[in-house]
Amino acid sequence: MTFIIIKTIHLMAAFVYGGFLITDNLIIMRMQKHLSPEEYAKARGGVAKRIRSIVPPALIIIMITGLYMISQVFGTVGEEGMTRFQMLLSLKAFLGIWLGLRGGLQVYAGIQPLVFKGHRLPFVFVLTIIFLSQFMYI
Ligand code: HEM
Repeated sequence: MTFIIIKTIHLMAAFVYGGFLITDNLIIMRMQKHLSPEEYAKARGGVAKRIRSIVPPALIIIMITGLYMISQVFGTVGEEGMTRFQMLLSLKAFLGIWLGLRGGLQVYAGIQPLVFKGHRLPFVFVLTIIFLSQFMYI
C-alpha cells in the first residue's frame, strides 16, 4: 500500500515536471517566433515566479519517491549480471538523478549547469525516462 501511494506521488510529480518541459518546449519557446526579444523576456518573466514555486519542488518529490522505490524494487544482482529491468531502471534513475541535481543546483545553489543550459535536453531526457519506465517492465 505504501509503495502504491509513493508511486502515485512519483507519477503525479513526473506529470508536473514533464508537463512543464513539454509546455515550455512545444508552446512557450515557440513564442520567440512571434514576439520581440524584449516582449519574450517579459512574457517569460511573468510566469517565471509561478514556475519556480511549482517545478523545482516537483523535481525534489520525484527524487525522494524515486530513491525510495528503487531501494524497494531493484533487488540483488544475480550471477548472470543485471536483469533487463535492473539495467533499464539504472539508466532511468541515472538520467533522473542528473536532472534532479542539475535543477536543484541551479535553483537552490545558483550554480548554472555546464552541460546543458536550456530546456531542450531535459525534455529529451524526460521523454527517454518515460519510455524506459514502460519498457523496463517487459
Ligand atoms: C524526471 C525524472 C523522472 C520521471 C519523469 C519518472 C517517471 C516515472 C514513470 C512514468 C514511472 C512508471 C510508473 C508506471 O508505469 O507504473 C516511474 C517508475 C519508477 N521510477 Fe521514476 N521517474 C523519474 C525519476 C526517477 C528517479 C530519479 C528514480 C530513482 C532514483 C526513479 C525510480 C523509479 C522506480 C524505482 C520506478 C518503478 C517502480 C515499480 O517498480 O513499479 N524515478 N518513474
